[in-house]
Amino acid sequence: MGGMTAPLPSRTFQPVLERIAEELERRPGRGRPADYIPALAAVDPGRFGMAVAEPDGTVYGVGEWRQPFSTQSVTKVFTLALDLAREGDELWEHVGREPSGNPFNSLVQLEYEHGIPRNPFINAGALVVTDRLHTRTGDAAGTLLDFLCAESGNPQLSFSKEVADSEAAHGDRNAALGHFMASYGNIGNPVPVLLDQYFRQCSIEASCADLALATGFLARHGIRADGTRLLTRSQAKQVNAVMLTCGTYDAAGDFAHRVGLPGKSGVGGGIIAVVPGRCTLCVWSPGLDERGNSVAGVAALDRFTTLTGLSVF
Ligand code: DON
Repeated sequence: MGGMTAPLPSRTFQPVLERIAEELERRPGRGRPADYIPALAAVDPGRFGMAVAEPDGTVYGVGEWRQPFSTQSVTKVFTLALDLAREGDELWEHVGREPSGNPFNSLVQLEYEHGIPRNPFINAGALVVTDRLHTRTGDAAGTLLDFLCAESGNPQLSFSKEVADSEAAHGDRNAALGHFMASYGNIGNPVPVLLDQYFRQCSIEASCADLALATGFLARHGIRADGTRLLTRSQAKQVNAVMLTCGTYDAAGDFAHRVGLPGKSGVGGGIIAVVPGRCTLCVWSPGLDERGNSVAGVAALDRFTTLTGLSVF
């Protein structure tokens, strides 16, 4: 048994969350907040919150788990699920499902792969998904916000105009991605319309509790909080699989190695993660590593799976 940690009892997640928060307080080095969007740069990297939601909606939390933060790329999971629910497999003809091994905002693979992004979580892929959801709904960002409000049970969730405006003012790279893919016929809406939708999507503010609850359909194999089905079992598996392999960009291998769960990060410092059939998690701490993932967030999830023995492996 040397070196093995005995799994903690899973009757309640509260003790394990408190232990993780206590351990992290003693660890130096929290990374740096994203500074490429001025509205995100001002947040204190020492902040921390974490929540775990069970499939029945019971939620546990520690630290600033009820504090809204900028969800950013975490939202890419929800737009993927919302579009997949509407169009099914046709989506996979327009966006791939392979890890890119490149930063989230990279342009390099797009030209030799003919405008088809590697996966739905790099920015290029997320733009394709949002574009397709917008075509089907007439309001991709509004559809996303309604979904998050319903699943979290929190009707107060909202867009941040400040963050969306800040993104738009510093959005040259996303604009380049949009126009480049449009030149291959892989974007259906006018690029400025798409960018407005995408920046509003990224600007949604929600807490760890909200996001852990909103992710619940992925632990329930596609079933929404109200008991209706959003995704087939197979589609829920697809979303979890692409989170595992692509959810933390060029750090996805390291994240799988350390955490062993489907996860999705955002540059606001949030990370969601799924233990299929068992629970969903959200952790927030705005200090990022050089690949754009929350330093304390990854460390907290690493400790969670180690202490509880809950991982997909
Ligand atoms: O596209 C962007 O630059 C941001 N709004 C979202 C980036 C993001 O969160 C990437 N994730 N780590």
